[in-house]
Amino acid sequence: MAKFILNGKPVVADVDGDTPLLWVIRDELDMTGTKFGCGIGTCGACTVHVGGRATRSCITPISAVEGASITTIEGLSEKGDHPLQQAWQKHQVPQCGYCQSGQIMQAAALLKDIPNPSDAEIDAVMGGNLCRCMTYVRIREAIHEAAD
Ligand code: FES
Repeated sequence: MAKFILNGKPVVADVDGDTPLLWVIRDELDMTGTKFGCGIGTCGACTVHVGGRATRSCITPISAVEGASITTIEGLSEKGDHPLQQAWQKHQVPQCGYCQSGQIMQAAALLKDIPNPSDAEIDAVMGGNLCRCMTYVRIREAIHEAAD
């Protein structure tokens, strides 16, 4: 049994403590915006915020987030109008789109830590979020736009 706050609402999930947070979010709580990519913490597709910090949900056991506040892409803004989501649309960042919720969640954590990041700071923080469509240049532009 796990209890935590998901997108501002208390939730209870009847799962084993070693169940990855990603599968609790997707399969138990039907929040499918967070994606499965590699399952070993190396691609970033599953990125959510735990206590405001970007976290790979595929390698985070649910027991590690007991009582924590977790935000997924569904909870980043009320109407999909977070400055990053607006900038993502303006710059038409996604191609296939699969990695993009993880990209946006990683970028949101970046802007919390560094409100106006340089290209080097963006690359350093976003480098662990892989995109097979190579949207990296547009991701960088959108982060700069949202930071303005
Ligand atoms: Fe979690 Fe790739 S699916 S980092």
